[in-house]
Amino acid sequence: MDIRVVRGDITQQQVGAIVVNLFEGVTAPGGATGAVDRALDGAVSRLIEEGEIKGKRGETTLIHTLGRMPPARVIVAGLGKSDDFDANGVREAAAVSARRLRGVGVATAATIAHGAGVGGLDASEAGQAMAEGIELGLYSFDKYKSEAADSSLEEIVIVEADDAKAADIEGGILRGQAIATAVNLCRDMANEPANYMTPTRMAEIALDVARGSGLQLEVLDRPQMAELGMGALLGVAQGSDEPPKFVILSYEGDPDNPDNSLAILGKGITFDSGGLDIKGAAGMATMKGDMAGGASIIASMQAIGKLKPRINVTGIVPATENMPGGHAQRPGDVVRAMNGKTIEIDNTDAEGRLVLADAVSYARSRNHTRIVDVATLTGAVVVALGDVCTGAFGNDQKFTDIVVEAGNQVGERIWQLPTFDEYKQQYKSDVADIKNTGGRGAGATIGAQIIGEFGEGASWVHLDIAGTSRATSEKGYVPKGATGVPVRTLVNLAHTLADG
Ligand code: BES
Ligand code: ZN
Ligand code: MN
Repeated sequence: MDIRVVRGDITQQQVGAIVVNLFEGVTAPGGATGAVDRALDGAVSRLIEEGEIKGKRGETTLIHTLGRMPPARVIVAGLGKSDDFDANGVREAAAVSARRLRGVGVATAATIAHGAGVGGLDASEAGQAMAEGIELGLYSFDKYKSEAADSSLEEIVIVEADDAKAADIEGGILRGQAIATAVNLCRDMANEPANYMTPTRMAEIALDVARGSGLQLEVLDRPQMAELGMGALLGVAQGSDEPPKFVILSYEGDPDNPDNSLAILGKGITFDSGGLDIKGAAGMATMKGDMAGGASIIASMQAIGKLKPRINVTGIVPATENMPGGHAQRPGDVVRAMNGKTIEIDNTDAEGRLVLADAVSYARSRNHTRIVDVATLTGAVVVALGDVCTGAFGNDQKFTDIVVEAGNQVGERIWQLPTFDEYKQQYKSDVADIKNTGGRGAGATIGAQIIGEFGEGASWVHLDIAGTSRATSEKGYVPKGATGVPVRTLVNLAHTLADG
């Protein structure tokens, strides 16, 4: 999508439609909405009076201008109550308006940067949220449809009279587009069927990202993983014919300060059948998305490489299938992770923590002291939090707070759940250092803490996105299917750590 800033009067733009906005409860519209109202002889205020336009969040009202101004259509987008308004409201309004524009088949549209006026947001934040909302809201995954849904929408211009504000909006748009491109890459990867999105394909995409964003890439294959002693990852991989890949993407934003670093790790199970502890049909149906954590890492690295925060960031993705082939690992097997710890396989379907055990060990072996892992790890976190928020777990409250706040700032809700030493006895093993499950209680915490066992000495946060990586219906700027969570959180986290 082409998104530009232009100066001038919004009512006089030579475009197919214009988009203005309204807060809930406003009866006499001002600003651009007021200008449109006057050009339409009071049509907007009349519709407000009649109760057809309420200004509610998510609402769009289409008005035909019938020759009273150059654009043939006006869309009034509701912004909700001004008290609860924030950048997320901008994203939502931009997303639903863009879809409405596409729905009526216009090619070009003009809008204002929602929130940059009476909304009280700074212009660059509003510009960024506009670009994110438009690009994220228009996303669709239709590459396997013989007849792609047609879209004629080509260009959206943002009209701003003030020169300084216009420049800020422009800067925000560039940032927003880089971030939205990354989120949509993450969505594409996680929506892709597992017969295409193999570990090999994930590594190829990482190579494209490395080239496009100026990152270093290293991809370890099975013998190299064996050399490093990644027995936990290889145990999962041995039941599949697809070769596993261990992807390492690095960005050097502060080469003089190697300690100013962050490692982000993502579970890359390209299909989770459960292994020999095979899942039922219902549980397996969505398991092409079990690499969403890994996809979020590759995508975040793309945006970080483009936005260049002053921090060194390493993205790590242990990628494999979890299949029940003839060489598959068995319940009761014992594997040894890269750091030397042994793990009894109590259940082959608890495979995410196994591949992450080696990824975290690897990050520790590279002296990383700030580690965030992202995984579709447990059904239990979905029971606890649904699809509304990601579960967070950590071993350092200060760092956990920073990660949670980084998500909440960008509208990707995160809620912390506990880790306590008392839970350790649940995953004690009779034969190995630990086992990979811990009974019925506190399933999300047990999964988290097993990963945390490999992060000793580092500040570590685990984000369980089993509930938030996929949406069952469209809402605001989030489409049905893969959501791209938590790419915006991770990009924001890199910037937060870089700035302070
Ligand atoms: N990938 C699943 C978790 C999952 C469930 C993700 C639902 C998305 C939606 C994970 O590998 C898994 O199978 N976890 C088991 C762990 C159990 C065997 C201890 C689970 O949650 O049932
Ligand atoms: Zn899994
Ligand atoms: Mn599993």
